[in-house]
Amino acid sequence: MTEPSPTPAPVPPAEALPADGGRADHGGLENLSTEDRRFPPDADFAAQANAHADLYAWAAADRPGFWADQARELLSWSTPFTQTLDTSDAPFFRWFADGRLNATYNAVDRHVEAGRGDRVAIHFEGEGGDTRTLTYADLQRETSKAANALAALGVRTGDRVAVYLPMIPEAIVTMLACARLGAAHSVVFGGFSAEALSSRILDAEAKVVVTADGGFRRGAPSALKPAVDEALAKGAPSVAHVLVVRRTGQPVEWTQGRDVWWHDAVEAASAQHEPVEVDAEHPLFILYTSGTTGKPKGIFHTTGGYLTQAAWTHLNVFDLKPETDVYWCTADVGWITGHTYVVYGPLVNGATQVVYEGTPDTPHKGRWWEIVAKYGVTILYTAPTAIRTCMKWGDAIPAAHDLSSLRVLGSVGEPINPEAWTWYRRVIGGDRTPVVDTWWQTETGAIMISPLPGVTTAKPGSAQVPLPGIAADVVDDTAQPVPNGSGGYLVVTEPWPSMLRGIWGDPQRYADTYWSRFRGLYFAGDGAKKDADGDVWLLGRVDDVMNVSGHRLSTTEIESALVSHTWVAEAAVVGASDDTTGQAVVAFVILRQDALEVLGTDPDAVQQTLRDHVAKEIGPIAKPRQVLVVPELPKTRSGKIMRRLLRDVAEHRTVGDATTLADASVMDLIAQGLQRPA
Ligand code: PRX
Repeated sequence: MTEPSPTPAPVPPAEALPADGGRADHGGLENLSTEDRRFPPDADFAAQANAHADLYAWAAADRPGFWADQARELLSWSTPFTQTLDTSDAPFFRWFADGRLNATYNAVDRHVEAGRGDRVAIHFEGEGGDTRTLTYADLQRETSKAANALAALGVRTGDRVAVYLPMIPEAIVTMLACARLGAAHSVVFGGFSAEALSSRILDAEAKVVVTADGGFRRGAPSALKPAVDEALAKGAPSVAHVLVVRRTGQPVEWTQGRDVWWHDAVEAASAQHEPVEVDAEHPLFILYTSGTTGKPKGIFHTTGGYLTQAAWTHLNVFDLKPETDVYWCTADVGWITGHTYVVYGPLVNGATQVVYEGTPDTPHKGRWWEIVAKYGVTILYTAPTAIRTCMKWGDAIPAAHDLSSLRVLGSVGEPINPEAWTWYRRVIGGDRTPVVDTWWQTETGAIMISPLPGVTTAKPGSAQVPLPGIAADVVDDTAQPVPNGSGGYLVVTEPWPSMLRGIWGDPQRYADTYWSRFRGLYFAGDGAKKDADGDVWLLGRVDDVMNVSGHRLSTTEIESALVSHTWVAEAAVVGASDDTTGQAVVAFVILRQDALEVLGTDPDAVQQTLRDHVAKEIGPIAKPRQVLVVPELPKTRSGKIMRRLLRDVAEHRTVGDATTLADASVMDLIAQGLQRPA
């Protein structure tokens, strides 16, 4: 799809940091420094909360020891570990390395063995209203059958399996079936294109691809299998079989000998399967995410440390009571939030959860709230973009449903503006529930910075404090912690159990990307500010990564997709603020002379064609909101595109300081040359 970049993109200088005002421009965020509302914990909630204030001091006294205690307490080990943290090969850290366990045994079998087999694990709600209930005993049977079926298709411990499925129970069953076998899953979000799927299958050398005929999206079947066929037609020597779930019943092309129906292979398989015991550091999954270069990074996570932090954070940040709560995380399993807070965290903790296939407005805008009322959801975890969308639709829609079961609300994926935060608490949470704004990343594996419900006095718009056992700070350009009241770069200063263990097949890129900017510190790529109390306010990415509806997209990757079109000579992409999606993709393109001659720069034709081209290359989620044809791009003397200036144009602001441009007249040219106002 795009050319790998030989060196990691340089980290921008401190001047590139978004100031408070920078974040205030995103998604209509108001000025954070004037936000002074406070929400102390409710006494009754605090009295029953899982978390308590002493945890911070306990964990700070011995961080590895704290996590070792959690690993012993929350997980079942077939071979207990004696080593906690191995830093000898930093930044390749190892946690609980001599211990052995199986992830699916922890997520499923042990609950059945403990007599909890009848507990509902998943209340599945299809978009069209079809439902399925899976207990932990059902999950044990289904994951065993699927593991046996995958094994029969040649999957062995240590192999990789690509998963390209809609949000249906089989997605979770497949992930757990892989984990039963000790094979790493590589889930590719169903909204990614055949091209994106192909590069991920090749990079991971997947042996089997698990997919479906399609899924239901906005009331209609949306095909998935054709993208797999197209991806494999490009060549994928590692793939022996495609396992296909029948979901929509739409017709599919069939490759004899390669393609196998799920209902044939899995239904016929034995329901007995012994989970394979693996080392704590055995890879559990790979998940590709956008970085600053054109090539997505295969972030890989291992078993023991990841599960420890997934389970601990899920219990404490959401105050989960597995016997009584009904938990619902709206994320798709194609993203890290779905991995940690739909699959591993909740299931390891023995929770009962809702899984919903579709969109919030199908068939009507009250669908989510109808689901909350139907299942008595007590904990809801979603993204600011969804909250802002619901806010726009109006209070009357949620008000028409009984939301009184809710007791904890969570937010993730991008900064939540204080207005959306307070709306979420007031309208969805009945002015009663704690709201936890959770900061973390695909790389961190689990929540890192968040208030603890029942403990923290919440500040709308701030993720606030590193969790017990997590050491994070905001530093300046020279790696010195900034004083309270100042902004800088967010770093994690000590290893944590669910940290990424690397970039699949590229250890050097891992060391360069995350550990070279500030020696010995993990650089997250986010700007942040510490307020007068030292609480952390996230300010957005400081690198060439955009955040659109909580989805990470790389400017470089979209630029590469654009220039792969024959019309485009050069492209620059920026993330411009957007009221609903946080940021939106805006592309500036210089067309080739021959294209100009043919098209006469008809803005509609150019826009439509190039938007579709990006959707084809990467996926519909990466489609630019706008494609603007310009005669030139603003560049420094060293040839670097000054995206800051383009962002000013895209956000209708007065263009900032352009004195470092090689040619200062370029911005005037762009202003004159724009085919239509942004
Ligand atoms: O910029 C931060 C933003 O999302 C990035 C991580 O994206 P991804 O790996 O796709 O994972 C998203 C779900 C964990 C971060 O670098 N981000 C995530 N959560 C927050 C956030 N920004 C501000 N506040 C948050 N709560």
